[in-house]
Amino acid sequence: MFELELFSNASARPSLPTGVTRLEGFALEWQDALLAALTQVIAAAPLRHMLTPGGQRMSVAMTNCGALGWITDRRGYRYAALDPRSGEPWPALPEVIRKLAAAAGLAAGYASFEPDACLINCYAPGARMSLHQDRDEQDFGAPIVSVSLGLPATFLIGGLTRRERPLRLPLAHGDVVVWGGPARLAYHGVAPVVDGLHPKLGRQRINLTLRRAGALKLNGN
Ligand code: SIN
Ligand code: FE2
Repeated sequence: MFELELFSNASARPSLPTGVTRLEGFALEWQDALLAALTQVIAAAPLRHMLTPGGQRMSVAMTNCGALGWITDRRGYRYAALDPRSGEPWPALPEVIRKLAAAAGLAAGYASFEPDACLINCYAPGARMSLHQDRDEQDFGAPIVSVSLGLPATFLIGGLTRRERPLRLPLAHGDVVVWGGPARLAYHGVAPVVDGLHPKLGRQRINLTLRRAGALKLNGN
């Protein structure tokens, strides 16, 4: 194994960690409906720069749709059913996002993925997301489905500890990454987004992170 890796063709793609799947261009056929749905969500629950528990303003602007939304402020990271800005529930999860998440989950080997939370991350040039684990969910049995739109980015995906050097995975408009199972708690992040102009989205990258945040429903009885 070791020799194979050492002497394999240098131009071959590095293999992704077990449990991580990249679906190139998977969201492209849904893009118009997705962008229309996102415009509506953002009109109802505007993007905002949240504060980390340490008091730093995040470079990524965020909002949510779905039953639960991920938030951060001085009190910590958590999921909330209400948008703290408006005191209203987050906009419902648009049907197109629900369908895309289920289809991407299935394509990556996870049947019946039913997200209840969609975090919308908006990166202006220079914005980044430092390495972290997604661990505010009640159950790690469901995968994470992550949809990239707009400017390209370099996704960093590592192992279960901070010590493992992350792989740098280029993500383009329409790419979807799914991680779960043995990689559910993999450290991941996004390198600073390089300035550019995307034909549909302009100078920004939008990422949708779909998760099952509440307890998983039990199958059968
Ligand atoms: C995240 O980890 O929440 C964001 C990932 C991404 O923007 O690709
Ligand atoms: Fe994350």
